[in-house]
This record gives sequence, structure tokens and C-alpha cells, in this order.
Amino acid sequence: MSYKFATTVSAIAVICVALSQGCSKSEDVRPEEKQGRAVYLEYCSQCHSLREPNTHTAAEWPDVVRRMRTHMAEKKRKELSDEQAGQLLVYLKGHAKK
Ligand code: HEC
Repeated sequence: MSYKFATTVSAIAVICVALSQGCSKSEDVRPEEKQGRAVYLEYCSQCHSLREPNTHTAAEWPDVVRRMRTHMAEKKRKELSDEQAGQLLVYLKGHAKK
């Protein structure tokens, strides 16, 4: 495989990754919510299927997340740091039930 060909292939691969992330089905996730959404996907599907952010209001989410963190500790699953919990709440509140 020539060097030029390899370079072209990797350039295309990089563009594909960039496009797939840009167009992921995560409907309008604002930049400040990206981190929280990553936390959500990684931590909130450990015990049950993901619950949609619009199943609770912004006022309700902090209590639900607090309860989930107790479950995580009790069931010895991966736990959220305070920083991650904060990021998660930015995402959940941004898409909460109105
Ligand atoms: C350690 C296991 C565990 C993890 C991880 C977990 N949950 Fe739960 N979740 C539960 C259990 C057990 C229940 C049912 C009892 C309850 O509601 O507290 C539940 C219930 C729920 C409910 C329905 C109850 C309600 O108040 O609406 C929602 C919504 C929910 N979880 C959201 C989340 C979110 C968001 C995350 C990520 C932060 C998460 N869960 C992570 C164990 C977990």
C-alpha cells in the first residue's frame, strides 16, 4: 500500500468519525451538555434501560439522581463523582419535561 493511499484512507476515516459524531441521533445536544450526555450513556444504563430526560421536570431530576447515586453505592456499580453528577444534571435539565 503506498504512503499516499494510506494517508488518503486515514483522512477519510477521520472525516467519517467527525461526521458521525456531528450527526449522531442525540437530537440537539448543546456543547455544554455533551459531557453530561456522555455520563448519562455510560452510567445510567448500568441497572435498567435508559430513562429519557423528559420523564422528569428539571426540579425533580436532582432528587432522582441523588437516589440513583445511593443505588450505585449499594449495588457496587460505577459511581458518579460530584463533578459528573453536576454535568449530568446540566444535560437532564436541558431536556427535562416542561
Ligand atoms: C445501581 C443501579 C442503578 C443505576 C446505575 C441507575 N439506576 Fe435508576 N433506578 C434503579 C432502581 C433500583 C430503580 C427503582 C427504585 C427507585 O426508583 O429508586 C431505578 C429507577 C429509576 C427511575 C424511575 C423512578 C423515578 O423516580 O422516576 C429513573 C427515572 C431512573 N432510575 C433514572 C436513572 C438515571 C438518570 C441514572 C443515571 C444517573 C440511573 N437511573 C442509574 C437503579 C439504578
